[in-house]
Amino acid sequence: MPEPFIPYILMHKNIPVAELTLDTASGAIVSIGAVWESAHVPVGIPVRKQTIDRGALNEWWKGRSIPASRFGIQDALTELCIPSTQLLMEKCRGFSLSDQYWICPAGSGLFWEQANFFENPFSKDVGDILFGRGADGGNINLMSPDNTSDGWLKKKWLVLDGKRFLLKGGSGATCQEPYNEVLAGRICGRLGIPHVTYTLMTNPDTEEMGGYPYSMCEDFITPDTELITAWYIMRTEKKPNHVSVHRHYLDCCGKLGVPGIREAVDQMIVLDYLIVNEDRHQNNFGVIRRADTLEYVSAAPIYDSGTSLWFDKPARMIHAGVKAACKPFKGSHEEQIKLVTDFAWLDFSALTGIDEELREIVKGSLFVDETRCSALCKALKGRVRMLEEAALSARHTIFFDSTRSDVMKDFPYSGKELER
Ligand SMILES: Nc1ncnc2c1ncn2[C@@H]1O[C@H](COP(=O)(O)OP(=O)(O)OP(=O)(O)O)[C@@H](O)[C@H]1O
Ligand SMILES: [Mg+2]
Repeated sequence: MPEPFIPYILMHKNIPVAELTLDTASGAIVSIGAVWESAHVPVGIPVRKQTIDRGALNEWWKGRSIPASRFGIQDALTELCIPSTQLLMEKCRGFSLSDQYWICPAGSGLFWEQANFFENPFSKDVGDILFGRGADGGNINLMSPDNTSDGWLKKKWLVLDGKRFLLKGGSGATCQEPYNEVLAGRICGRLGIPHVTYTLMTNPDTEEMGGYPYSMCEDFITPDTELITAWYIMRTEKKPNHVSVHRHYLDCCGKLGVPGIREAVDQMIVLDYLIVNEDRHQNNFGVIRRADTLEYVSAAPIYDSGTSLWFDKPARMIHAGVKAACKPFKGSHEEQIKLVTDFAWLDFSALTGIDEELREIVKGSLFVDETRCSALCKALKGRVRMLEEAALSARHTIFFDSTRSDVMKDFPYSGKELER
């Protein structure tokens, strides 16, 4: 019989943060002992009188596992003979390629340098199983960052020329997400928005990819940095009822000292308006922090923009004005775009021909046919026009109503400058 509880130390690189024990049956944290470095407790987890809130830490720990909604996860768990994704995390000591937390078996003397996935090789077995290929041979090696990857789309981490890349699929009959990721990156590039570059991978010859499109992007986290998503940033302070989610996010980032956050949020809202992103939830954006010094570096570059461009609509329903879901600050893009504090950076001439660039990206696709491609290009052009109108009307609103304190707070321009 295995021990029912295993003692671990929650580590942040080589800094011991707190003692904890894991339940071997569920993978949950059953107790938390001494807290050694409260400053290094994961962001947004309450610590009171040197005691970590166990419920919140468990929620964070569970949030590191593959979500139950992941495409194909039940089959993968069956093949792995593991009852839940939370139990998989213990097998890779919680190491991830998006941050620097891990769990060290108590008394093992293991160092971060010896086992992290940024600098050490990792097994392909879990990724292969998630891609429906089955692992080679009988012994499955579970040391993989795929055990701690978030999101519902099929994905796996790869190493190419020593660099870490995330390969991610699409969904439904049109598998549009990989094309959308590429386009979002191109728009960002044209507009000078910091972003993750996605490349389209379609190789009908590999059994694994089987003609389906995938996107591939390099890890934007390094051994020195980590991603902290907006979800946790917004848990660093209590949100007063009268304060909007947008204002709360800016305030939390302001208190933590994240540079350039207002500009980055403006840029994200503009991109999401253009591509009609329906799923910019609070784990699809965030900030970058240095793990050793805890210094906040910047907003994270834009990533995960695939759930956009009418990805789940039939071709005949695709047009610029169609109603679509919107996150994270407002329920509609028309309302959300009004939160942008400054459009002066936005060079509309840089978007000329973006529809043709989209046509080029989907050229030859088995999934986005000519009818769909034409509808998408026309609708995207329409979104550019709509954005121009929204930007123009914002200039007028701000000029004529400079008493709007929610918009004007730390707004850098006076009405006169805007009119010029
Ligand atoms: N290039 C990257 N570098 C580091 N971490 C990344 C990178 N891309 C994604 N991640 C991490 O992996 C997680 C899952 O990736 P992503 O959000 O792209 O997947 P998804 O399946 O599209 O997610 P969702 O469920 O939000 O649709 C992200 O939330 C982020 O934590
Ligand atoms: Mg995501």
